[in-house]
Amino acid sequence: MSAAVTLSSGSPDQTRAVGERLGAVLEPGDVLLLSGELGAGKTVFVQGIARGLGFNSSVSSKSFVLLGEHPGRVKLYHADLYRLDDPEQVAELALDEISMDGVLVVEWPERAGDGELPEEHLRIEFEVTGEDGRELRFVGNGERAEELIGGLSD
Ligand SMILES: Nc1ncnc2c1ncn2[C@@H]1O[C@H](COP(=O)(O)OP(=O)(O)OP(=O)(O)O)[C@@H](O)[C@H]1O
Ligand SMILES: [Mg+2]
Repeated sequence: MSAAVTLSSGSPDQTRAVGERLGAVLEPGDVLLLSGELGAGKTVFVQGIARGLGFNSSVSSKSFVLLGEHPGRVKLYHADLYRLDDPEQVAELALDEISMDGVLVVEWPERAGDGELPEEHLRIEFEVTGEDGRELRFVGNGERAEELIGGLSD
């Protein structure tokens, strides 16, 4: 069974707010894969997730960032595979291994090779629908992801 929910956003703040709501319930081992064109709002969404996890530090478009535990609830690993210099670096990040230790959020997961990303994950597809309009489609892969999606529509 797979679950899917689509939410629309009319501003960066709305996208951040959805991320914050999701971030508030994320636990170590949760994996989010964010797809969508350049400027679709993936990093803006991660800013909300970081806030929901309790971090005050800013999230930007770096290739790989770890936000440590303080003052957040849980570690946040944020990887942007588009900004790696070399696709071989994806394997070096060992994303599959570190994912158990915190929340893992990956932008441009399409750049990873087979088996480099956890099989169970929540995929979020960002679509640009207007200057400030975005659609966020949440697709669950696995029981935990479906549970997270269920919480979004409450
Ligand atoms: N509803 C919206 N949600 C998110 N961002 C929006 C929205 N409307 C406009 N924007 C703007 O779109 C841009 C999104 O940038 P962001 O860096 O988050 O994109 P991205 O998907 O991470 O791109 P990249 O693939 O380059 O990493 C920002 O400039 C933001 O202000
Ligand atoms: Mg980005």
